[in-house]
Amino acid sequence: MSATVIDGKAAAAAVISRVRERVESLKARGVVPGLAVILAGEDPASQVYVRNKIRKCAELGIDSRRIDLPGDVTMEEMLSVIRKLNEDPAVHGILVQFPPPPQLSQEKIIDAISPSKDVDCFSSCNVGRILEGRTDGFLPCTPAGVLELLKFAGIDPAGKHAVIVGRSNIVGKPLAALLMQKNKGANATVTVVHSGTPDIARYTRDADILIAAVGRPRFITGGMIKPGAAVIDVGINRVPGENGKSVLAGDVDFGSAADVAGAITPVPGGVGPMTIAMLMNNAVLAAEQAVKNA
Ligand code: GUN
Repeated sequence: MSATVIDGKAAAAAVISRVRERVESLKARGVVPGLAVILAGEDPASQVYVRNKIRKCAELGIDSRRIDLPGDVTMEEMLSVIRKLNEDPAVHGILVQFPPPPQLSQEKIIDAISPSKDVDCFSSCNVGRILEGRTDGFLPCTPAGVLELLKFAGIDPAGKHAVIVGRSNIVGKPLAALLMQKNKGANATVTVVHSGTPDIARYTRDADILIAAVGRPRFITGGMIKPGAAVIDVGINRVPGENGKSVLAGDVDFGSAADVAGAITPVPGGVGPMTIAMLMNNAVLAAEQAVKNA
């Protein structure tokens, strides 16, 4: 292995320590940031993600409110819960863990959350701000975490070719928007490849910064990477391991990739901790903005 491993836990700790200071400063003014997290159904991966978010809130002194809804919850019931939280001044941020059960519309959920409490940065209004290059509001958690990781590793995207594998609304599209802006820590030339792209490796081999967010375990192998490139693995996939137990695998085949890349993030311990850190950042920002607008 020749690549430097980028330590997502250390990068996240740096973000968290800045967030903690802001929580303290809000508390000194009598305001406790409040984050509501809604989970519908019992998807095991979602349960783990929600538990980790709630735990991080507790560590930071953010007042979390976990709302568990049954897997057969109706759209009307979900919307009614969201509307109540929109009206609750003690709740500054609202997050509905995705994917929701199939009878619920993801778009209707997103549209129902007040943009001022949209700590996921999923609403059309907040996504539009990102596309415009405005960075003074909520930032999408995983994409912002990727930019922060690059900064932590001393990798400046400016003038580089960043290739994103995957075009999801949660990662690929907003990450492309962030990376292409004429902003500090961005200003890259961005290519997005996806399931409709013939010969994906033709593009990935040209990437100075390669970001895998495709949701397919070990999809990116060493032969698809330019020597010395920075490789950021956003994937979290459960795959069968030894002894019948499942193990976590990224979208990158770490073993072969680390022989070619210059820097690489591990799974777990890479992008994952950054996503939660950026969520905490947005929760505190939501509370700060509520104070400012009061
Ligand atoms: N499911 C997978 N990633 C995310 C995320 O960033 N936010 C929410 N709400 N659900 C998710």
